[in-house]
Amino acid sequence: MRPEETALEQRFHDALARDRTRAPEWMTRWDYQEGLKKRKRTYEDGVVSDFFQFGGAEDLLKWMSWFRTDYPDYINDARIAALVQASRANDERVVHSMGLQLDAAVYDKRVGLNNAHDHLLPQAYPVPERAGIRTVLDFGAGYGRQANLWTGQDADLCYIGMDAIVNSYCLQHLYYKGLGVPCADYIDTPDAFQLDPRKAGIQHLPTWRSDLIPSASVDLVMCVQVLPELNSRLVRHMIGEFKRVLKPGGAFYIRDHAYTWKPTDNFDVEAHLTANGFDLEYRAHVINDVEIHGIPRIWRKSLPDVIASRKRTWKQRVDQAVVDVDTLTGGGFKRTLRKLKGKA
Ligand SMILES: C[S@@+](CC[C@H](N)C(=O)[O-])C[C@H]1O[C@@H](n2cnc3c(N)ncnc32)[C@H](O)[C@@H]1O
Repeated sequence: MRPEETALEQRFHDALARDRTRAPEWMTRWDYQEGLKKRKRTYEDGVVSDFFQFGGAEDLLKWMSWFRTDYPDYINDARIAALVQASRANDERVVHSMGLQLDAAVYDKRVGLNNAHDHLLPQAYPVPERAGIRTVLDFGAGYGRQANLWTGQDADLCYIGMDAIVNSYCLQHLYYKGLGVPCADYIDTPDAFQLDPRKAGIQHLPTWRSDLIPSASVDLVMCVQVLPELNSRLVRHMIGEFKRVLKPGGAFYIRDHAYTWKPTDNFDVEAHLTANGFDLEYRAHVINDVEIHGIPRIWRKSLPDVIASRKRTWKQRVDQAVVDVDTLTGGGFKRTLRKLKGKA
């Protein structure tokens, strides 16, 4: 590794050591990968096989190789094609700046499609103006791929990347800097770091410092292929944090195998969301891995006025009762009422 990469890895470990009381072991764990490691399972050559150490910028290409097969795409339209092209242009630039080369033969249908889906789907249908997206939190951000289109397509957007695993975190750091948008990382200045949820560009935080995100400041939280791989204690904790940081009515976008694949425990994320003030707005009725990789869902932190508007008021109930009685009496009930009013 280059000296600056070794120094980056060290800054991550220093921040973790400094913050140890805020970062209990369950919060910094990637349960799925730890399970694989215990079983001495490794990926084939060319893919990162140990996420608990940093291998330098070359790991970026290894992360991209993790997307091993061409992905299905039921959307397959001009919007997706344009996003894939924009994603590739950015990634070619980032990767070249690191002295590396993209695998152009497979990029579009793997990395490109993944990026395009996660940029298009959370904003694919009309929503009220109050649900517009200015600030996003990408939890479990991989090598940081989602920042490519989210910041590339909207120069005013505030993108917050969050992770707790040394390999992912350090790659995110390099990738975010490589994108060339304004970027601030907690591990560079842990004592002075302040998160501004309105600042354009990228802000990078470890999981154990989610407290730095102000309450009700985020429009969209994204968890793509993350929650099924974590322990339920962490998932419960983070859903509590997502609820705190989201604005009322804010969106929580999840794309994963919807718990048909659940390598950690049997925690029911969907039941937990329903019981904790989230409302399911969208769940694609599609076949996992045939029409798209993972089932996209959008939950919303319930907006009290929306929930209240679903309940019949007492006035609506009384008005309906009057109509029912009037129907039973062939219109006699209302006629009598009118006569009585006329006499009064
Ligand atoms: C399967 S990868 C998905 C990456 C990314 N969302 C994507 O779609 O490309 C799972 C991600 O969860 C992250 N992760 C694992 N344990 C975590 C933890 N305790 N806190 C935050 N992120 C974690 C990993 O580092 C990795 O970035």
